Amino acid sequence: MKTTKIAILGKGNVGGALARGLARTYSHVQTVGNDKTAQRQAATQAEVVILAVPFPALDDVVKNLGAALDGKVVVDTTNALDANMNLALGYSTSGAEELQKKLPRARVVKAFNTVFAQHMDSGKVGSTPLTAFVSGDDAAAKQTVVTLAKDLGFEAVDTGPLKNARLLEPLAYLNIQLGYVLGLGTQIGFKLVRE
Ligand SMILES: NC(=O)c1ccc[n+]([C@@H]2O[C@H](COP(=O)([O-])OP(=O)(O)OC[C@H]3O[C@@H](n4cnc5c(N)ncnc54)[C@H](OP(=O)(O)O)[C@@H]3O)[C@@H](O)[C@H]2O)c1
Repeated sequence: MKTTKIAILGKGNVGGALARGLARTYSHVQTVGNDKTAQRQAATQAEVVILAVPFPALDDVVKNLGAALDGKVVVDTTNALDANMNLALGYSTSGAEELQKKLPRARVVKAFNTVFAQHMDSGKVGSTPLTAFVSGDDAAAKQTVVTLAKDLGFEAVDTGPLKNARLLEPLAYLNIQLGYVLGLGTQIGFKLVRE
């Protein structure tokens, strides 16, 4: 088993799936729900902190954790949706970049947001591996998340700087449109094909 210490904040669809999947490979995976003290303790002890909370909750989390996230790999799985399930921002910024501004000493990486939670524990739809797109400005942090994604079962692709979260957040919105609005259901996902 690998010993990287991982804290997952959020015990819902995403937090639960990532916890299940990562526990196959990592011996130190702690998942905490909406509890400020537990979140602070878990984040303080972790090397990698995965944010699996609703987008509007990020401000609460930032306020609560503050310096506890300094130097940590912070994985942003959130989708910046407003109350009407429309993209809340984009084109000239992204949820991930705004998070990085609020946490200037954390190493924010955008990942997993383009995947339905049902597939996050295996990285697959059926037997087909999905692509995990991983964007971030800190090369080592990004590599850590690429490794996590591969260990889950994804094919992982370095998707460049955090700025490219501007592309990943609308891609996730397309996934939601296809799955929930256009009737394809959630047994779908994105795979980058290359030779
Ligand atoms: N579901 C998907 O397929 C999917 C796919 C890709 C990305 N995402 C993104 O992943 C994130 C989580 O989605 P989800 O489906 O896992 O949501 P969820 O099932 O509703 O779980 C959210 C978790 O966050 C906690 N939480 C809520 N408000 C909080 C706060 N103010 N402070 C701290 N924790 C708080 C909740 O605790 P309580 O239940 O106790 O409030 C719960 O444990 C969202 O940003 C979503 O856009 C979801």
